[in-house]
Amino acid sequence: MIQFGIIVRNLSSSSALQSAIKNVTIIGGGLMGSGIAQVTAQAGQNVTLVDVNADVLSKSQKSININLGKVAKKVFKENPQEAEKFVTESLARIKTSTDPVSAVQTADLVVEAIVENIDVKHQLFQKLDSAAPSHTIFASNTSSLSINEIASIVKRKDKFGGLHFFNPVPVMRLLEVVRGAETSEATYKTMMEWGKSIGKTCITCKDTPGFVVNRLLVPYMAEALRLLERGDASARDIDIAMKLGAGYPMGPIELADYVGLDTTKFILDGWHKKYPEQPLFNPIPILDKHVAEGKLGLKTGEGFYKYEKK
Ligand code: 3HC
Repeated sequence: MIQFGIIVRNLSSSSALQSAIKNVTIIGGGLMGSGIAQVTAQAGQNVTLVDVNADVLSKSQKSININLGKVAKKVFKENPQEAEKFVTESLARIKTSTDPVSAVQTADLVVEAIVENIDVKHQLFQKLDSAAPSHTIFASNTSSLSINEIASIVKRKDKFGGLHFFNPVPVMRLLEVVRGAETSEATYKTMMEWGKSIGKTCITCKDTPGFVVNRLLVPYMAEALRLLERGDASARDIDIAMKLGAGYPMGPIELADYVGLDTTKFILDGWHKKYPEQPLFNPIPILDKHVAEGKLGLKTGEGFYKYEKK
């Protein structure tokens, strides 16, 4: 409810929020990429959503359609015709492509939301660096890798930064704008303005592990899993405790299931490797066991809780 307030406000005043960015290419048609495509198209900008897998793209289009419908119902509740127009026009602004190189030819901004693997990201950005116009800004939605390390492969280091979104993207109001060591002032300002133009509240962070949110949220979820592993409290009671005792919308174990246990483990493992002296990042056997068994949370129908398959 609260989250939608900001979307409504920003949609109705979108003409007042100008951005130098008109054409946005989003690479990666997963949950995050689809959400970023949706909020960008909703704000009136042209989007090219890219994934090497055409099936992933058709799934993204379906989910964007459903989620635009949810926004339309909320924003235009008195006016079903306007709601339908909003969905149709937003969808029409989203093109899809399986070829990243051709998809960046007219991009003002590229947002990468692909697998969290530095080598794969380097391969992608190296190709894009020679294909995109010189003014194009590159951004990564990485949740745990270093922006400077990702940017090390491109020539346009001054036009590279982090744009970190939160799941579900159409609902969560925050955008973390990450300044790398060589991100120029102009690039930073354009990223901040763009964030506002798509209805997000932006905060700025240096290129530090997990930026602000994940640096706090991941150790918090990890501590909750350690509490569970020690048998100090049940998953249900830990979640109820944080919802009713601290006012969080979800408890930490529910949230780990929601984010994905594989993603949570991946982030922790990466930080543990880099900072072995930090006990907060130590491996958690109960988490590793769930991931090894393919119980990855909401997306697989089972994590620490069971979910009905949709
Ligand atoms: N698109 C559009 N609308 C959506 C949506 C989506 N994808 N998902 C949910 N909604 C809408 C629903 O339609 C509903 O609208 P309504 O108020 O008109 O009915 C509204 O959002 C609330 O949804 P629900 O009623 O289904 O459920 P809740 O009220 O329980 O809210 C939640 C769900 C917004 C996910 C809330 O539980 C929440 O805020 N949880 C915490 C999420 C969080 O912490 N995210 C960050 C994770 S960390 C991360 O992403 C970083 C990464 O790097 C790991």
